[in-house]
Amino acid sequence: MTEHIQYDAARQVLVLLDQRRLPCHEEWFDCRTTEELIYALQTMVVRGAPAIGVTAAYGCHLIALEVAREVGAAGAWRQLLRDRLHLLKTARPTAVNLAWAVDRSVAAWEARPDRDTLELDTLAALWLDMATSLHAEDLACCQAIGRFGGALLQDGDTVMTHCNAGALATAGYGTALGVIRGAIDQGKRIQVIANETRPFLQGARLTAWELHRDGIPVTIACDNACGLLMRRGMVDAVVVGADRIAANGDAVNKIGTYGLAVLAKQHGIPFYVAAPLSTIDRATPTGDHVPIEDRPPREVTHVGEVQICPDGVPVYNYAFDPTPAELIAGIVTERGVLTAPYAESITRVFAEAARDAAGIVDNGE
Ligand code: MRU
Repeated sequence: MTEHIQYDAARQVLVLLDQRRLPCHEEWFDCRTTEELIYALQTMVVRGAPAIGVTAAYGCHLIALEVAREVGAAGAWRQLLRDRLHLLKTARPTAVNLAWAVDRSVAAWEARPDRDTLELDTLAALWLDMATSLHAEDLACCQAIGRFGGALLQDGDTVMTHCNAGALATAGYGTALGVIRGAIDQGKRIQVIANETRPFLQGARLTAWELHRDGIPVTIACDNACGLLMRRGMVDAVVVGADRIAANGDAVNKIGTYGLAVLAKQHGIPFYVAAPLSTIDRATPTGDHVPIEDRPPREVTHVGEVQICPDGVPVYNYAFDPTPAELIAGIVTERGVLTAPYAESITRVFAEAARDAAGIVDNGE
């Protein structure tokens, strides 16, 4: 799969595969300024929680360079930099990876003993290193998610997925599609049903594009066909990604995911969520506390340039919904599959991650 997020160090530009133009056109979009980064995030040139996080990490670096260009070597830059980072951090409200990536960069700055005397170009270089590491880490997380999640699927399974939680939504490989790729890498034959995912059509345009390119059998279904397909026994498992998982295990993902989980429950089909720990927000108690992005009505009223709704009728275009934890059979992370009760399994996995980060070996005593 083409690397869809690339940093061009010679030009100091973040180059993004323009996901608005897929599947018919492969065009690239350059980001250099705060304005271009925010535009790319808000119009969904780049989208998907982990990919948004990686973009934001490079964004911190680019914004540091931008502020340096504006204020010059000796200028006062700290408050201006913080203001721009705030704009970046709040460009989209639901995917927690955006705030997580910006906060991580700021925390690294604040943790330095020389934080008050640090030169801006030193900070920009630090943030580029961090972005490069995060980019690689996210790919490794997806591959680990694939290994753990792949084991949940059986040879011959048909897996339904919603939106795009694939290579395009991450640094590469994907979360939900990572689970599917992981099962295939384990020698299993897997078919995929990609829900089209109105209104932005991430399933029909992006999931179908990337799976088809990789030779993974995929069939597109209208969102409202899910019930029939499940009732007819055509779905063995549902695997989706998440934009934010709350402390109790509720998973907020693309609008329509909640309905899919209810249908899966009704038909006795396991419903899995695949996401890295960076998508778990322990500061948010439940899915109902997660801010839900309300996107422009035009995404619903038009298909491309063609208007399909009458003038003057209001539109709901909530982009995400929370799926209650009790509908989720497992949350597949890079550290294994979490199961209910999620408040406990989430606390445990973060404690393990903290122990490993601190280099403490658990000898079971
Ligand atoms: O609005 P989008 O396209 O950014 O929404 C993306 C999703 O809902 C994905 O399922 C989620 O971010 C997981 S991506 C691995």
